Amino acid sequence: MQNPGPMSLLLSVLLFFFCEASSSLLSLPDYYLLHNQSFSTEPQEYLDPTLPPLLPPTGAPSCSVHVLQHEFANTYGSPPASTSFIPPEACPPPWFHVVLDLSISCFGDQYDRIAAVWIAGAEVLRTSTAEPTDSGIFWRVRKDVTNYASLLRNADGVEISMMLENIVNDIYTGIYKANLSLEFYPDSDDVISLGRSKRGRNALEIRPYDPFMSGSKLGKVFEGEKKKLLPALEDPADLIIPVCRKNSSNGYWFRIYNQSDEHFARINIPRNTFRAVLEVFVSFHSNDEFWYSNPPDVYIKDNNLTSQRGNGAFREVFATIDGRFVGTVLPFPVIFTGGINPLFWAPVVAIGAFDLPSYNLDITPFLELLLDGKNHSIGLGVNDGISFWLIDANLHLWLDSDSQVVSAKLTRYEAPPVSVVRANKFLHLNGTFKTDAERKAHFSGWVNSSMGNMTTDVNHKFKIKSSLDIQNNGNYKAVHLKAKAKTEVKTKNNQEVILSRVSHKLKYPLAIVTLTLPEMKNTYKSMTNLSHTLYEEATVFMLEKLINSKIITDKQEASGWMQVEEHSVLLGSAATKQKYQYSNNNKCYTRNVRAKDGVVLDDTATDACEIDL
Ligand SMILES: *[C@@H]1O[C@H](CO)[C@@H](O)[C@H](O)[C@H]1NC(C)=O
Ligand SMILES: *[C@@H]1O[C@H](CO)[C@@H](O)[C@H](O)[C@H]1NC(C)=O
Ligand SMILES: *[C@@H]1O[C@H](CO)[C@@H](O)[C@H](O)[C@H]1NC(C)=O
Ligand SMILES: *[C@@H]1O[C@H](CO)[C@@H](O)[C@H](O)[C@H]1NC(C)=O
Ligand SMILES: *[C@@H]1O[C@H](CO)[C@@H](O)[C@H](O)[C@H]1NC(C)=O
Ligand SMILES: *[C@@H]1O[C@H](CO)[C@@H](O)[C@H](O)[C@H]1NC(C)=O
Ligand SMILES: *[C@@H]1O[C@H](CO)[C@@H](O)[C@H](O)[C@H]1NC(C)=O
Ligand SMILES: *[C@@H]1O[C@H](CO)[C@@H](O)[C@H](O)[C@H]1NC(C)=O
Ligand SMILES: *[C@@H]1O[C@H](CO)[C@@H](O)[C@H](O)[C@H]1NC(C)=O
Ligand SMILES: *[C@@H]1O[C@H](CO)[C@@H](O)[C@H](O)[C@H]1NC(C)=O
Repeated sequence: MQNPGPMSLLLSVLLFFFCEASSSLLSLPDYYLLHNQSFSTEPQEYLDPTLPPLLPPTGAPSCSVHVLQHEFANTYGSPPASTSFIPPEACPPPWFHVVLDLSISCFGDQYDRIAAVWIAGAEVLRTSTAEPTDSGIFWRVRKDVTNYASLLRNADGVEISMMLENIVNDIYTGIYKANLSLEFYPDSDDVISLGRSKRGRNALEIRPYDPFMSGSKLGKVFEGEKKKLLPALEDPADLIIPVCRKNSSNGYWFRIYNQSDEHFARINIPRNTFRAVLEVFVSFHSNDEFWYSNPPDVYIKDNNLTSQRGNGAFREVFATIDGRFVGTVLPFPVIFTGGINPLFWAPVVAIGAFDLPSYNLDITPFLELLLDGKNHSIGLGVNDGISFWLIDANLHLWLDSDSQVVSAKLTRYEAPPVSVVRANKFLHLNGTFKTDAERKAHFSGWVNSSMGNMTTDVNHKFKIKSSLDIQNNGNYKAVHLKAKAKTEVKTKNNQEVILSRVSHKLKYPLAIVTLTLPEMKNTYKSMTNLSHTLYEEATVFMLEKLINSKIITDKQEASGWMQVEEHSVLLGSAATKQKYQYSNNNKCYTRNVRAKDGVVLDDTATDACEIDL
């Protein structure tokens, strides 16, 4: 992604032509442009093969509202495109299910770009674009946005906005044309299941339950007053407060340029809040677009390299309340479509490129700090981050309808600093850089509401092992990242009975091996093998009974070469295969896609459960 800083657009376009290609470190993962490329004569559909979209029996939702139509041409530095949304008369709230549908088309030459959709300043989709071809490309992102329904109910209208910063000139000709719609399904009958879950890969989703699967079961497990806890865990939040830039002239996201560049939002929450989850959206750009492959600064300096992609290969996004650390997020390394070898991502894009994962931090143990009716500040920052990150968050709040004020107390706070161990060995351009990072955090707090006095216990840990091996005087580079995170959230009543236990595990193994052969001046050939997986497991116990278990394994393997001049791909060949597996309470969906040189060779889906982890 060629994504210059706000004030340096012209300068960086110049630098891009005169400096970057002269770096002697040719095999750094980088961003590229497909020039004058066509894989077919017709406009071609791009995809991220996950679960197929919802299909109502009638073939259409009860109401579909075309919200926004916009051509993103020279939008760099412009405010987002926005409109006012009013709930359709034919489909008044509440809604059983709401789906966002974004269609984009583009032709010509263009870099991948970052984009987002906000409802009243709360981000609901972070997405990136595919790089177009001369014959044109198009794609569609469908996302379950039922969790954000509370934002859409306002009969006086709510602002829906979309930002996509693009640059159009003689070289970059692609204009991204977008249509945004919302689909409303008032009843469960409107949505058929195709024999499996109807929810798409909302990767690190806020509701660990699949309401279609477990709703009725849950009701049976829970009786009496405890039944009140059920909606708290299952239903979308009653209120969502955006944690973002208030001045949206440059988008609602916070732009974070370095580790000390923490950004804050002032918030004020209702005093009857009994559950709070902070949902964090992140993307990384420019010098941190490939943060998992960045060498330490000392390597760059000692070798007199011009690259500014340094600061090592560990990053974590953290959140604070009034300056106190409350949780951390390990970003999944989403690869944009111009990244590493753009031929890998045509027409199958990298995991999450069209729907970047968001990350949930259960901050219920910290409600004591927020329930006094006063303003508080929520901060977001990036440990070890360099220029630049786009981050914002949504604070999802569940309110006690039977009381005006609830009381709460933080009873356990253990948050030792992250441990980072680095081992750097290098001689000139050859070197090996290892980073091991680990963090543990444990928070508990009780909340006394009309549901009783419940204690929430949040136990989080992660481990990262990263290795970067540069040989052959910088022309061979191997990146290996292993990231694992586990969060367990337990809710106990006053009698120490564990009412619910939600466990969430994530693993993101990534391997990228690139060999570069310099050819003529400014031209080189680069060969890469890549393997990347998103593994997510969520299990839910109620009164120690397993009531839901979901596993997603999404794996891509790509291999190919390209001939490159500066940042333009001149020639090349690449193959990508992807296997997406979803299982939920023993219902399964598996999709296998193979693509080569811009064409899908095969794409098969099955409901059979394969044991293949
Ligand atoms: C792309 O095509 C245009 C016009 O057809 C030509 O001027 C330009 O040099 C080509 N670019 C590359 C990188 O081949
Ligand atoms: C957007 O919608 C308009 C009107 O329905 C249609 O003409 C246009 O092709 C659509 N564009 C995309 C990118 O879907
Ligand atoms: C919002 O920010 C822009 C520049 O980013 C500035 O020109 C404008 O004055 C700001 N508006 C307000 C209300 O602060
Ligand atoms: C971090 O970034 C901010 C915002 O660009 C800047 O004001 C500050 O000087 C930077 N700090 C360091 C240590 O570079
Ligand atoms: C980097 O530059 C310094 C000063 O110009 C020079 O002494 C040193 O040998 C250079 N290092 C390498 C690896 O080229
Ligand atoms: C609290 O924040 C709101 C807006 O976020 C502001 O209008 C109000 O003045 C603040 N109150 C205090 C006491 O700072
Ligand atoms: C706990 O909450 C209940 C219901 O809101 C309330 O009646 C009770 O007084 C609270 N207990 C304490 C000690 O605040
Ligand atoms: C809630 O329970 C905790 C212990 O589980 C206790 O220390 C606290 O006083 C209780 N709070 C209320 C309001 O009863
Ligand atoms: C770096 O490694 C290559 C082989 O991978 C070797 O030919 C070269 O001499 C090494 N360079 C240095 C400075 O040791
Ligand atoms: C990629 O994998 C193939 C097959 O295993 C191997 O022959 C080739 O050397 C690998 N390329 C790189 C750059 O590691």
